[in-house]
Amino acid sequence: MNNERKNYVIWLKNILDDGVALSDIKAAVPVNERAFFNMLVMTALRQLAFIKTDVLPRFVRKRIPQKQNILNFVLYLGCTELLFLETPDYACINSYVEVAKKLCDKFGANFVNAVLRNVVRNKQQLLTDRKTMFFSKEFVKILKQDYTPAEIADMEKFAQIEAPLDLTLKAGVETENFAEAIRLPSGTLRLPAHTAVTEVYGYNDGLWWVQDAASALAVKALADIRGKKVLDLCAAPGGKTAQLLDAGAIVTAVDVSAKRLERLKENIKRLHLEKSLNVICADALDLNVDEKFDVILVDAPCSATGTFRRHPEIMNNKTIQDVKTQATLQQKILNHCVVWLKDNGMLVYATCSLAKLEGEKQIKNFLQTHTDFDVCPIQIPGTEKMITKEGFLRVLPQNFGECSGADGFFVAALQRKI
Ligand SMILES: C[S@@+](CC[C@H](N)C(=O)[O-])C[C@H]1O[C@@H](n2cnc3c(N)ncnc32)[C@H](O)[C@@H]1O
Repeated sequence: MNNERKNYVIWLKNILDDGVALSDIKAAVPVNERAFFNMLVMTALRQLAFIKTDVLPRFVRKRIPQKQNILNFVLYLGCTELLFLETPDYACINSYVEVAKKLCDKFGANFVNAVLRNVVRNKQQLLTDRKTMFFSKEFVKILKQDYTPAEIADMEKFAQIEAPLDLTLKAGVETENFAEAIRLPSGTLRLPAHTAVTEVYGYNDGLWWVQDAASALAVKALADIRGKKVLDLCAAPGGKTAQLLDAGAIVTAVDVSAKRLERLKENIKRLHLEKSLNVICADALDLNVDEKFDVILVDAPCSATGTFRRHPEIMNNKTIQDVKTQATLQQKILNHCVVWLKDNGMLVYATCSLAKLEGEKQIKNFLQTHTDFDVCPIQIPGTEKMITKEGFLRVLPQNFGECSGADGFFVAALQRKI
């Protein structure tokens, strides 16, 4: 068990300090450890802002030197286990003291021992005095640029709710065989959190794919696209590509990541939708195609702040600078790609960011410099309350109309006038 904890400490550091994707770490966890890993590390990521702000400063008076930085991560997991899981206190302390000895030295181990003993002694008080909920100070700073404190507090309530399993069904698939499922007004089929994907009806037959209900709205913003030529920019792992193909479009899917495009191809093959698909591995900014398209979908790379329920590391490692960097890239991609849009063609822009710089403000700027585009009304059942005064679609976890919410998401549908 100590060896596992030692690995989790290193992985937590990889996720938070070294930018390694949580999904890559999860894939590396041995199958028999996954339940414990999920419980411990996902809880740590959700509770980290509280541990860092309300717990550790009470017992750690001096900054831990950089070369012993790993001790911070030992303490994050130790506090998580002591405060939120049911491991007996002293077994837990002994484990993390051993881990600190292995990853640092005897002095580090003594320090961890002293801090965790203090946490145990003050456990009830720490929980009762809790002021910080789930968002880090920097995450709140990002959100404060666009939302009121009450709106931010409403979003934060979703940080501890396990996201449900949302599926997009292939056209014509009936819902009656799916146990415990609800059909949302927008068409998404919702199953309870923790449903095992491979055990859901129709997995082997490729009758559906996993896609958050909000993410599915970008393609639904388009009218009939049967037989239309669509450029799907930033396409991998292919949730929206599958929707486009299933709706009868002829799709050119582009992504900069060869690895993610492999996943896209596997996904589309599982769904038997590969017939009208052309895949190009390229940076959208270097792309050069010699044809024009009826539709361009830009599902842009973004800060992903809207996905904090499924990716709790996002509440802890995103900065205002990340938002600005992504917004600059999105602007470049939009400006670069519009030359391939036919007259009267549709441009759909989407991001899973909550920041308006990557959504509403991005598109308002685009419209100022591209006066040949109009905003098209988005009409998707169940989304009426999410349409902004400009005609964009802004999904917040709390405005989705379901107790378990959806990812934060933004969609704009624009049409070239000429
Ligand atoms: C939000 S994800 C796309 C999700 C996808 N559309 C779907 O529905 O499954 C953004 C994608 O943009 C890709 N990307 C990032 N920068 C890019 C660039 N400069 N050119 C092309 N693709 C890029 C990433 O590899 C990532 O796969």
